[in-house]
Amino acid sequence: MNLKEQVGKKAVEFIKEGMVVGLGTGSTVYYFIHELAKKIKEGLNVELVSTSVQSIELAKSLGLEVKDIEEVSCIDISVDGVDEIDKNFNAIKGGGAALFREKIVADISNHVVWIYDEKKDVEKIGAFDLPVEILPFAYNHTIKKMKDLHLNPKLRHKEGKILVTDNSNYIVDLALGKGFNIEEVKKKLSTIVGVVEDGLFINMCKHCIKGTEQGAIIIENHNYKRK
Ligand code: 5RP
Repeated sequence: MNLKEQVGKKAVEFIKEGMVVGLGTGSTVYYFIHELAKKIKEGLNVELVSTSVQSIELAKSLGLEVKDIEEVSCIDISVDGVDEIDKNFNAIKGGGAALFREKIVADISNHVVWIYDEKKDVEKIGAFDLPVEILPFAYNHTIKKMKDLHLNPKLRHKEGKILVTDNSNYIVDLALGKGFNIEEVKKKLSTIVGVVEDGLFINMCKHCIKGTEQGAIIIENHNYKRK
């Protein structure tokens, strides 16, 4: 079993009868959704909401119903992947361009679980470029501001065209380098008007499940405080 499959399957142990579950996005969550679909077919009763069109389509292809986020009054638990995570539970997300919905879903979830293989576990985040969602309106000006602030932006493309997110926005990837100053970058981004949201997820999870060759390890974040 590959490590993504290992943690995706393990995460289903957190899902209990009657819960409202937030589906994350990506190739690790793919396995979670598949395993969850099996449990639902076996009789588990849960409601689902999603962080992306991609995950809605995957869930629907497995026969699952996905509710609109406005149809639920709360989210009991959400399970999502990460691109990088450090020991203080600082993570970079958005490799799959779903960071905005992922952040809202994490923010309103009572319990956030992140699943990843051990390669994502880093001493300091930043080797992975930080994704930032921006408005298409005046995007070249937004990118210029980022350049002026030495954030090393690069507009994300897919198949030769500018990538458009589920929210009809664009993604800019910032090459900041390992160990960048998180607070400083947050502060700079907060001054740029066209920025919708960034892929910095700081201390937002309660549990992580890390996939290793020795098996899946559940890590509790003792510093996590629900807002
Ligand atoms: C999508 C994300 C994903 O959770 C992140 O990219 C991890 O994906 P994968 O499990 O495919 O490595 O943030 O926007």
